[in-house]
Amino acid sequence: MHVEDPQLPLITAATRRAYDRDASAYADKTDRFSDFPGLEEELERFRGRAPKGPVLDLGCGAGRDTRHLISAGHDVISGDLSAELLKLLRAGPSSKPVQLDLLTLPFRDRVFAGVWASGSLLHIPGSAYPRAFGEIYRVLAEGGATAISLRDDDKEGWHRGERMDVDRWFTWRRPHDVVRELIATGFASVEWAYCGRKDWYIVEAVKTWAPSRRDGERRAGSA
Ligand SMILES: C[S@@+](CC[C@H](N)C(=O)[O-])C[C@H]1O[C@@H](n2cnc3c(N)ncnc32)[C@H](O)[C@@H]1O
Repeated sequence: MHVEDPQLPLITAATRRAYDRDASAYADKTDRFSDFPGLEEELERFRGRAPKGPVLDLGCGAGRDTRHLISAGHDVISGDLSAELLKLLRAGPSSKPVQLDLLTLPFRDRVFAGVWASGSLLHIPGSAYPRAFGEIYRVLAEGGATAISLRDDDKEGWHRGERMDVDRWFTWRRPHDVVRELIATGFASVEWAYCGRKDWYIVEAVKTWAPSRRDGERRAGSA
């Protein structure tokens, strides 16, 4: 059994405060793909993997990736913890912002064809990763794809990042630990690759068909 970090509520509150406080400056700093080498290609690869259907931009920030996905024709829900970032979401009139915590997603099971999580899971403690992966798995439809970008190392704690002058919680995880947890969650076709941005890497995974309890009962009944 995983015991989650007792600091979790504190971490979540501090993350929300930091992004709310610096929303406008953060939006300016993260608006252009040219400042994130390789990111646009990763997003395109994710688009190619996800089947047709709604996409969740999980921890969408100021909406750079949502904007790209909408302009490519996707129906996108933009979810983030920070109400202030969502207020200034730079993704056009058809954007659908939802304030949420990625550990308790306010969506029904199997509603998304894709979940794109760029740099958002690095703000939750490592002990909460199985829960986050479980939520992503739950809201994906069978055949749905996820792509999650993270940072490689084995450490976590309060840290002064490059883009804000306040401490935020950061978790660095080894790719093979993340791959193992995604497989334990039920994901298949789990692949990872370095992004070409310092210690960043991206993990992709697919939710394959899994019999629900009801399907199992029905089949057992008809055997
Ligand atoms: C490093 S930023 C990345 C933003 C955006 N995805 C991008 O690539 O520009 C992390 C984002 O994750 C959001 N976030 C952090 N913890 C979260 C949580 N528990 N639930 C939902 N969003 C969260 C933050 O508010 C922030 O917008």
